[in-house]
Amino acid sequence: MQKFILHPDSILIDEKTIQNRIRELGAEISAQYPDGVVLLGILTGALFFLVDLSRAISCPIEIDLIAISSYVGTSSSGTVTFKKDLSREIDDRHVLVVEDIVDTGRTISALLTLLKDRNPRSLGICTLLDKPDRRIVPVPIHHCGFTIPDQFVVGYGLDYNQAYRNLPYIAVLDPPKSSQ
Ligand code: IMP
Ligand code: MG
Repeated sequence: MQKFILHPDSILIDEKTIQNRIRELGAEISAQYPDGVVLLGILTGALFFLVDLSRAISCPIEIDLIAISSYVGTSSSGTVTFKKDLSREIDDRHVLVVEDIVDTGRTISALLTLLKDRNPRSLGICTLLDKPDRRIVPVPIHHCGFTIPDQFVVGYGLDYNQAYRNLPYIAVLDPPKSSQ
């Protein structure tokens, strides 16, 4: 359960700003894929973004969800395996991966490697948040909601030990020293 209440000053991006930006992203994506696109949401963090984004898109869409585990091995990009795989073939389809945040870039980079093997017609990335200061593996981000500084954030799908996902805004979390 949530162990402490966030201070109102901790709000980094408020609800109205998020929703306005999502409308802009929806327009961008609709213009880019007039013949349709598969939105591929990464569980669990991207769920809230995926739902609002899909309602801001006017071209035909299909929605699929994946869950992945990532391991950082000897290569800097690490590897990912599917805990829940796609429920459709994506060969010759336009696919847009929908993510909550790109941090080091390891997860999304390893995921792109897996998805490319399935021969999509195109493979794009749409992330709500980008933390470029933390990047270790370069990744091509095609649609980005907000670029944020190197701070740990929660809300609107993002969690700290599974808590805070349901906040309608993005807030900066300063975890208690004992749990860092
Ligand atoms: P990457 O492989 O380092 O890019 O990791 C991205 C994943 O780390 C995201 O999908 C989030 O699950 C998690 N993550 C990174 N930064 C944050 C944050 O500030 N708050 C919550 N989760 C984060
Ligand atoms: Mg994630």
